[in-house]
Amino acid sequence: MILNVSDLSKTYRRRGREFNAVDHVEFFAWSGDFSVIFGESGSGKSTLLSLLSGIHRPTQGSIVFNGIDFSTLTDAELSTIRNENIGYIPQDAIFLPQYTVLENILLPLAIRDGKKLEVKNVSDLSDVEILSKLEMLGITHLVNEMPSELSGGELKRASIVRALVNKPDVVIADEPTSNLDEANGKNVFDLLDKISHSGTSVVVATHDARGFKYGNRLYTMHKGKLFPNGESDHGGL
Ligand SMILES: Nc1ncnc2c1ncn2[C@@H]1O[C@H](COP(=O)(O)OP(=O)(O)O)[C@@H](O)[C@H]1O
Ligand SMILES: [Mg+2]
Repeated sequence: MILNVSDLSKTYRRRGREFNAVDHVEFFAWSGDFSVIFGESGSGKSTLLSLLSGIHRPTQGSIVFNGIDFSTLTDAELSTIRNENIGYIPQDAIFLPQYTVLENILLPLAIRDGKKLEVKNVSDLSDVEILSKLEMLGITHLVNEMPSELSGGELKRASIVRALVNKPDVVIADEPTSNLDEANGKNVFDLLDKISHSGTSVVVATHDARGFKYGNRLYTMHKGKLFPNGESDHGGL
């Protein structure tokens, strides 16, 4: 088992009142799983994914990833695991504005290897796996540009490739197709499907109905609670 989550809660305080954005969630995923979490806006999907990817710490409960309990790790240890083993695709792509898109994409590799960024131009890139992902998402011709020159959807696709460069054991994608057109949305699901078949565990939060087709484990989130589909009493999307 790659991810084993037990009794997970995240409590936020708003106007002096506490509420559980993630409420006693149980979740597990195996290598090669494609888990899809549906749920209305505000149901807690992004909060849950931020806990699974180690960005935020839970208020309660445990996350065991590859046999390691996150709560036993220092922030620095967790950062290393996040960079090398967890590919997180945030809802809104964040890029360093002073680097080209390609440099941003390659940054997790440079950090892992403790090296400076060497490849400046996509024509100098020899890693065929990264090249094929850029090609699959149709952004090869854009990555020499600065982030400010790209649209939101183009940056989103670039952030997906960036999340995959270190070949993580788990990929956690927060609405990866939210601002993409039909064809590009399909390409993203096809790429995630491909990497899940190569053994990576994929966890996606989405409103995209394609999730029903691609996912092998389907969930619905409602008011912080996670229901395996079929057990929820309020319907799918
Ligand atoms: N940092 C925060 N402080 C307080 N409330 C938050 C914070 N982040 C999210 N929330 C609230 O938690 C709930 C779940 O949000 P979120 O996880 O973003 O849901 P979703 O991704 O399903 O739209 C919402 O009510 C949201 O307003
Ligand atoms: Mg969200």
